[in-house]
Amino acid sequence: MPAVIILGVQWGDEGKGKATDQLGQRADYVVKFNGGNNAGHTVSVDGEKFALHLLPSGILAPNCVSIIGNGVVVDPQALFEEIDMLESRGVNVDNLRISANAHVITRYTKMFDAINEEALGEGHKIGTTGRGIGPTYADKASRIGIRIQDLCHPKRLRQRVEIALAQKNLLLEALGREIISVDCVVEELLAYGRRIAPMIIDASKVLNDALDAGKTVVFEGGQSTLLDIDHGNYPYVTSSNATAGGAITGSGVGPTRIDRVVGIVKAYATRVGEGPFPTELKGEEGDWLRNAGAEFGVTTGRPRRCGWYDAPVTRYASRVNGLTDLVLTKLDILTGLEQIPVCVAYEIDGERVDELPVDTWDFTNAKPIYEYHPGWTEDISGAKTFDELPENAQKYVRWLESMSGCRFSLVGVGPDRNQTIVLHDLLDAPTR
Ligand code: GDP
Ligand code: IMO
Ligand code: MG
Repeated sequence: MPAVIILGVQWGDEGKGKATDQLGQRADYVVKFNGGNNAGHTVSVDGEKFALHLLPSGILAPNCVSIIGNGVVVDPQALFEEIDMLESRGVNVDNLRISANAHVITRYTKMFDAINEEALGEGHKIGTTGRGIGPTYADKASRIGIRIQDLCHPKRLRQRVEIALAQKNLLLEALGREIISVDCVVEELLAYGRRIAPMIIDASKVLNDALDAGKTVVFEGGQSTLLDIDHGNYPYVTSSNATAGGAITGSGVGPTRIDRVVGIVKAYATRVGEGPFPTELKGEEGDWLRNAGAEFGVTTGRPRRCGWYDAPVTRYASRVNGLTDLVLTKLDILTGLEQIPVCVAYEIDGERVDELPVDTWDFTNAKPIYEYHPGWTEDISGAKTFDELPENAQKYVRWLESMSGCRFSLVGVGPDRNQTIVLHDLLDAPTR
């Protein structure tokens, strides 16, 4: 029974939630390994839509244990809002567990997300989701973070909050802002702690025991390869490892236990927030793609920047993640286009460059070199097998696959769980 990592290839919103929900139906555990409620996954079940942020997308599968891993940052307020929303819609969340080592987003880390963006100013700001993600990971790295386990120990918690606020309040004072009271933060966090306590586990132990017992575990990544703090377009990134390595450090399961690393890639590209995006379409073409694909953020409602498929990006993601499989999503959105442009390389300073440049500023200046593929007009949203796709759609998928460095295993033709064409089962015998 395999251990499968699911992660994003481009700049997020590729359809990771749908893929995780689908595998979650057959998995014993889904563990979210990075990010927090900056993520926004829309999962459609029989036409009913669920917007998930912090909770693993396995939460909609009744027999699956959903775990928030140590690599995640948890906003307790967002956690309970999401739990309450799901319960009010009849979803049982009794199978939710949280790693004792996950870090906590606090009212002050949220506040500093806005302060940092303001200080960077127009032209330099990241365009964060404003959920406190960056400052919480910064506190973790500075060793002044608050962990989930601290929420159950009043004395220890107070000490941890005092240490953090000693620094934060100095800054707030210097900025002429109101300082934050230790009592207020501690009281709030202890109240959350009482409700979280029954969910806290040693996630590494639980997951390794599960794998020893032959269970299936899906590791769910938030954000994506090009938003990864190490391998993305720094500094226009999130503050965690959204790539395959993040699944290891963010869950406490060793790399030798992983059977598959699955990248989710959209048949075109989108980005939210600032940063380079060579194939971005501005004006009418971009508006058309945004409306056709309903590309508006689930978390912030921001219109997503839209552009054509970028083959070097997928090849790059195959490399840095060691992908074994790709899932192509939203192929249906391209229906009706006479010609489908695909970026096959870049022109940088007058030279053709075939691979994604390591220098963010070169990437910012990269001009896409397009090749065009003939489109199709038939509705493909009901296709159940690859053979049922129009010939041009089949050729388009095979062409993208040939440039990707990895096999395509699933093709999405609509948002619902069953609108997926299976070329290779992601949970069959391991590839190792
Ligand atoms: P995530 O953050 O990677 O989980 O992706 P989002 O949920 O933010 O955005 C993906 C959107 O596309 C969601 O609204 C999905 O329901 C939808 N979706 C996923 N796969 C497909 C597909 O193959 N076709 C269509 N039309 N929509 C899809
Ligand atoms: P899912 O999991 C798309 C982007 C933000 C911003 C940058 C940093 O739904 O794919 P942060 O709040 O994380 O500090 O913001 O990262 N970003 C996302 N973009 N999808 C997401 O998640 C994202 N999570 C963060 O827009 O550019
Ligand atoms: Mg999303």
